[in-house]
Amino acid sequence: MAEENIKEQWKRFEENCRNCTACGLSAARTNVVISRGGRSAPLMLIGEAPGRDEDIKGMPFVGKSGQLLQNLLEFYNFSPKDYHICNIVKCRPPENRRPEASEIMACKKLLAQQFSLVKPKVIVLLGSTAYEAFYGVKPVMRDVRGVFTERKGYHIMTTFHPAFALRNDKMKIPIYEDIGKVRRKLEELDILPGIDSDEN
Ligand code: URA
Ligand code: SF4
Repeated sequence: MAEENIKEQWKRFEENCRNCTACGLSAARTNVVISRGGRSAPLMLIGEAPGRDEDIKGMPFVGKSGQLLQNLLEFYNFSPKDYHICNIVKCRPPENRRPEASEIMACKKLLAQQFSLVKPKVIVLLGSTAYEAFYGVKPVMRDVRGVFTERKGYHIMTTFHPAFALRNDKMKIPIYEDIGKVRRKLEELDILPGIDSDEN
């Protein structure tokens, strides 16, 4: 019964997303990019905005950045039911520019609905745009990255955006370390089994 309810709620939420014209990004989109991974998951990873590959496929992080992210998640034994990947805005900005504040604001209502459906315990903000959208201030990335903070019962961490690591090889190391910290946090919270345990 409750299960059916969640399915219905998701269906309505996805319809709301697909029909959304709350900002100008709706005009040029091929697809509204909502999520991949589990619909309800302990870990939510939030990027900036869909790029070209994502717009075409209708799924977040399926291009080159997505491949790097996926490799990291698999390295730490995450399976798709463990994570929910999404973005601050659901439609592709032209020329892959950063989403504007008004677009981020317009898309917040849907992101809030998504939070209440996914019910994550741990949130990872991928890059400075996600950080700024979440906290309302620009981050100094080297200061904030890799550190967990607790807010309203969520454990939140910021790391570099995978696209940044694609442009600068050295940045792969901190992202790799940070996703390892995320795995350990979920283990400490008894949400995921230890990476070496038999249950895995
Ligand atoms: N970059 C993002 O921020 N999100 C995607 O979905 C793809 C690339
Ligand atoms: Fe709606 Fe978000 Fe797409 Fe703008 S980016 S049209 S608010 S779904």
